[in-house]
Amino acid sequence: MSVVKVPDAGGDEIKLLEVDGHLYPPSSVDVIRGIRDLPIRDDDVFVCAYPKCGTHWVWEMARLLLSSDTEAVIEKDELMLEFIGNDVIEKFPSPRILNTHCLVEQLPRGVFEKKCKIIYILRNPKDMAVSYYHHHKKLRVYEYNGKWENYFPFLMDGKVDFGSFFTYLKDWAAIGTTHPELPTLTLVYEDLKEDPLPGIRKLAKFLNCEKSEEYYLKVKELTSFKKMKAAKGTIIQATDGASVMYRKGEVGDWKNHFTVAQNEIFDRTYKEKMAGCDIKFRYTV
Ligand code: A3P
Repeated sequence: MSVVKVPDAGGDEIKLLEVDGHLYPPSSVDVIRGIRDLPIRDDDVFVCAYPKCGTHWVWEMARLLLSSDTEAVIEKDELMLEFIGNDVIEKFPSPRILNTHCLVEQLPRGVFEKKCKIIYILRNPKDMAVSYYHHHKKLRVYEYNGKWENYFPFLMDGKVDFGSFFTYLKDWAAIGTTHPELPTLTLVYEDLKEDPLPGIRKLAKFLNCEKSEEYYLKVKELTSFKKMKAAKGTIIQATDGASVMYRKGEVGDWKNHFTVAQNEIFDRTYKEKMAGCDIKFRYTV
């Protein structure tokens, strides 16, 4: 377990943390090791996704629905398992909306005992890839300044924090069979972009906190990319002042980055690695 510098295909390094054979963002080994033992409450809710799939967005929807508090400005990172120690998380009042990018079996043990509700988010992996590239470049902790052409093969190889997205997608796609006891709601980034209201209603029903249509419209408005960026965009800033977590918020930005050859490599690799796992992504809306 140590800080590691992993070179991309051009030799530019990303600073990561390796703990028990898994890669994480530079955080604390003790915090990562503590995740499994976090004491879990019956009403804890989990937002789970591979990085850059819309965790901040959906977390905020869940917060607004569960708390009915439209004034507070809280960033989901305050309840992110990989960064916040159990002692701090334990002080949060219920209901806690915890969030993580970890694999199913890395979740706190208590999640399975208490049968906590899980909100799982999917986003098309081409947009995720572009978003993750900007994330790695902009967040100072990674000390990374590589080029997209060298990042692309590196990401496809799964050498990033939280590992291969192919592994992650397959692991979570199987949750219905590996853990049928866990109530899980899957929300899809592209569907939410097309129209957030059906997703917001589903989320409210799942969380057992149904509200008026008027309130759902308020949630839609407050969780628009523009509003969230205005409210929280300066919390995590890049060296150039740009918002790291609220970048573009669009479907299809991958077309501005992928070359034709990269797109072919992606489609071919996806087909090979995801054989037998049928997830239908929308790459445009
Ligand atoms: P882009 O980099 O493509 O813009 P996560 O929260 O899991 O880190 O995901 C971040 C991605 O979600 C970023 O994608 C970010 O801009 C986008 N995002 C954040 N808030 C959003 C919102 N309210 N609506 C749409 N996309 C949002």
